[in-house]
Amino acid sequence: MPEGTSALFELELSLPDTRLSTLASRLVGFESRFSRMHQELLLLLDKDGLEQWSKKHYGVRVPLLETIFDRYPLVVFHGDVGTGKTVTAEVAANALAKQLHKDAMLFKLSTRVRGSGNVGEMSTLINQAFDVVAREAGRSKLSFLIIDEGDSLAANRNANQSHHEDKVAVNTLIQKIDDSRRFTGRVLVILCTNRFDAVDPAIVRRAAYIEEFRRPNDGERLEILRMDCEGLGLSSSVLDELVRLTGPGGQYQLGYTYSDIRTRLLPEALALAYPSRRVAREDLVAAVAKVIPSPSIHSAEK
Ligand SMILES: Nc1ncnc2c1ncn2[C@@H]1O[C@H](COP(=O)(O)OP(=O)(O)OP(=O)(O)O)[C@@H](O)[C@H]1O
Ligand SMILES: [Mg+2]
Repeated sequence: MPEGTSALFELELSLPDTRLSTLASRLVGFESRFSRMHQELLLLLDKDGLEQWSKKHYGVRVPLLETIFDRYPLVVFHGDVGTGKTVTAEVAANALAKQLHKDAMLFKLSTRVRGSGNVGEMSTLINQAFDVVAREAGRSKLSFLIIDEGDSLAANRNANQSHHEDKVAVNTLIQKIDDSRRFTGRVLVILCTNRFDAVDPAIVRRAAYIEEFRRPNDGERLEILRMDCEGLGLSSSVLDELVRLTGPGGQYQLGYTYSDIRTRLLPEALALAYPSRRVAREDLVAAVAKVIPSPSIHSAEK
C-alpha cells in the first residue's frame, strides 16, 4: 500500500483479482444481477467502445456521446443489511475490469475518512481520497471507488441532526463526483448504503444507476444452502425444511439475510457437530433456534 493512503482506504487492490473472481461464483444471483447492470455500467466506462460504435453505425462521432459522457460516474447500491451490497460492488468492479481488458485499481473508502471531528478534516480526507483515485485514472487505468456505508458520508444536508461538518463533507463529495466526469470512463464511484432514505437527494440525483438489494427469497435461500452444504449428505427435504424455517414467517417474522445464513447459521450448526460427528438435520434446526435474523435497518430504527 503506498505510503500515507492507509488512513483513507480500507482496501486497495489491483484488478483483476483471483480472489474476487472466485468469490463471484459463490454469490447467489450475481450472474443475473451483473448481466442486468453491466450494459448500463459499460455506458459509463467503455468510452472507446462507444466511440467505435458511433463511427461504425453513423460514420461520425454523434453528439449523443457527449450526453452519455456527461453523466456522473456514480452508481448506488442500496438495501437491507447483509444482502451483498459491499461484496457485489467489489466483485462487479473486478468483473468489469476483466470484461474491458483494462488494468484497474479498486479503492474502498475507509469509515476513518469521517475523521475525528476536527474542522474541515472530513472534507480534506475526501479530497485526498479522490486525488488518489484520480491519479490512477490519470495513468489510464480504470479506477473504482467504493464508498461503503455511504449514508454516513452522504447524509441528507436537510436532516435535523446534520452538522455543519457533515454538510461541508457532502458538498465536497458532490463536487468530487462532478469533477470525476473529466476522466470519462476511467472512474466509477459505487456508493453502498442500507439507509437509502438518509442519502442526500443531490447525490441520488446524480446516480447513473441505482440497484436495490433484498433479503433472499425461497429460491435464493435454497441456492445458498445447496452451495454451502454441498457434500454434507443432507437430503433435499432437509434443505426444503431449512428454506421454510429461514424464510419470513418461518421460525421468525423476518427472513434471514444471506449473511445470516452464511456467516452465522451454518457456522453455528457446524459448531454443534464438531468435532465428534457429521452435521445433521438436528444441528441445523437447533442453529435456527439460536440464530435470530438480523433486524432490518428500518425496524431497528423504530
Ligand atoms: N448473493 C449472495 N450470495 C451468497 N452470499 C452472500 C450474498 N450476498 C451476501 N452474502 C454473504 O453475506 C456477507 C455480507 O455481505 P455484504 O457485506 O456485501 O452485505 P451488505 O449488503 O454490504 O451489508 P451491510 O448493509 O451490513 O453493509 C458476504 O460476505 C457473504 O458471505
Ligand atoms: Mg456493506
